[in-house]
Amino acid sequence: MEFGIIAAMQKEAALLLEKMQEKTETVIGGVTYTAGVLCGRTAVVAVCGVGKVFSALCAQAMILRFSPRYIINTGVAGSLSTALHIGDLVIADGAVQHDMDTSAVGDPVGMISGINKILLQTDEALTKKLKAAAAAVGARAVGGVVATGDRFVADGAEKRRIADTFGAVACEMEGGAVAQACFVNGVPFALLRAISDDASGKAQTDYPAFADRAARKSAALLLTALEGEAC
Ligand code: ADE
Repeated sequence: MEFGIIAAMQKEAALLLEKMQEKTETVIGGVTYTAGVLCGRTAVVAVCGVGKVFSALCAQAMILRFSPRYIINTGVAGSLSTALHIGDLVIADGAVQHDMDTSAVGDPVGMISGINKILLQTDEALTKKLKAAAAAVGARAVGGVVATGDRFVADGAEKRRIADTFGAVACEMEGGAVAQACFVNGVPFALLRAISDDASGKAQTDYPAFADRAARKSAALLLTALEGEAC
């Protein structure tokens, strides 16, 4: 299997599932893995559920069952940067877990004990292809660090803390966990999101208004990148 694609919510995977051909479904741990052909490439798409645990479980099961050559996480994110507006794309150079904190026993905030890393880098070649696809269609896209945690960020102070601590440009709830599962299994990983809100108090009204469109935009860019390869 060439590509494994993970989205937290149905709306983030819908376009990919619409375009996929020769579909077969496998259910593992309550998650449906739809395998088939996407832009001439073998791929498996899963809707994992929201948060780090569901997304890590999904990535591990996907790796064991389907042996994807690459895993890509797509969906929506909150902006932590004045350079990222609603509808813009963030194509991550790396992911952190902003709620990982063993600093009370002397570790740096965000360090994942065991692998002793804060930043999990995305695959350079795949990330480059996603950025090239965005440039080719004239989509506004920014690189940088994406911060993951089990919290929907909708508060100015929390937003600033995450941005300042990690130099992160966007926040979401799965990418860093998928990155960790990929890292320990040696699977190259990419992370692509479209901005649905600005992670401040305004997010409570902006997210419901813009998440559907942003979710489709992220999936559309992923298709564009795959199309550049094969369709
Ligand atoms: N996904 C989209 N917006 C988000 C936010 N503000 N916080 C966490 N995850 C998000």
